[in-house]
Amino acid sequence: MVTAPCALSHDRHWFSRREGMRRARFERIWADAVPKVFQDVPTYYRKGNIVASLGIWELWVWQFVRSVELRPGSRVLDVAAGTNDLGLRLLRKQPRIALTAIDRSAEMQAHGQTLARRAGVRIDSVIHDVHQLPFADDSFDVVTLQAASRHLQLDKVLPEIRRVLRPGGVFYHCDMLKPENRALEWLYLRFLRLSVAWTASMFGSSDASRRCVSYFSDAIQAFYTPRELSEVLAICGFSAIRCETSVWGGMVAFHAAQKPQPASQPQTREPTWADDVDRRAADVRPQARRR
Ligand SMILES: C[S@@+](CC[C@H](N)C(=O)[O-])C[C@H]1O[C@@H](n2cnc3c(N)ncnc32)[C@H](O)[C@@H]1O
Repeated sequence: MVTAPCALSHDRHWFSRREGMRRARFERIWADAVPKVFQDVPTYYRKGNIVASLGIWELWVWQFVRSVELRPGSRVLDVAAGTNDLGLRLLRKQPRIALTAIDRSAEMQAHGQTLARRAGVRIDSVIHDVHQLPFADDSFDVVTLQAASRHLQLDKVLPEIRRVLRPGGVFYHCDMLKPENRALEWLYLRFLRLSVAWTASMFGSSDASRRCVSYFSDAIQAFYTPRELSEVLAICGFSAIRCETSVWGGMVAFHAAQKPQPASQPQTREPTWADDVDRRAADVRPQARRR
């Protein structure tokens, strides 16, 4: 099913409140616990996802990769790239792209670099927090973000993604979202707690990871439904927004959204979050560590 938001039922104040609420609830976990989880998981990350999702992970990533349009020479940025699971598949689909991966976990990216070397491909790696992307405006044709936005402050990350995309460039997003249906949500969140717990025990995860078992379902409960995320993208200044929900009732959704071409922007449009960030663009961006 493909949907695009026609009239928005939410505005930037709603988005601001929701992000404030997510920050108040999870800021400490995002800063302390989540980095520890991703120190622990690189070597079993992919297998862990397959086990926790009963195999659905592979199908979902395959569907997502299929939806990403790549051309020879495309400059692609994979945000919160982890172990380059997505990047490697993008390179298999179109070997003639220039791919940059950014993630704050040196451990996840170190493993991702090992996998890239084994596959004989080049992925430029940048170790950095993705709330500030250390790239010039309009640097990429395509930006991808998979399975990470629940851990991020979207009111910071999405305007940054829009900034580094060239006009007309496309942002592809895929993640587990909050189902629209309440009964499904109830079942899904309970399943998630169990599956994360059994995966942690099966792979001998650290105490830090085990303490995060309930966070993973809490983060989805506080997150956006597919329809809401389409609206968030519009609020952040993206256009031509498409959303394909998976067969699991919107538990996983694939969004694609374009950075508008200047000519297509009306002269007197409502200011967006992206404009707020553009106004602060004089910020000195911290130096990234490149590998
Ligand atoms: C579940 S993994 C997803 C990895 C990859 N996108 C994939 O689909 O396999 C989430 C990733 O987000 C990264 N991450 C979380 N918060 C981050 C932040 N503020 N800045 C950069 N990376 C972050 C973690 O280090 C981790 O590698």
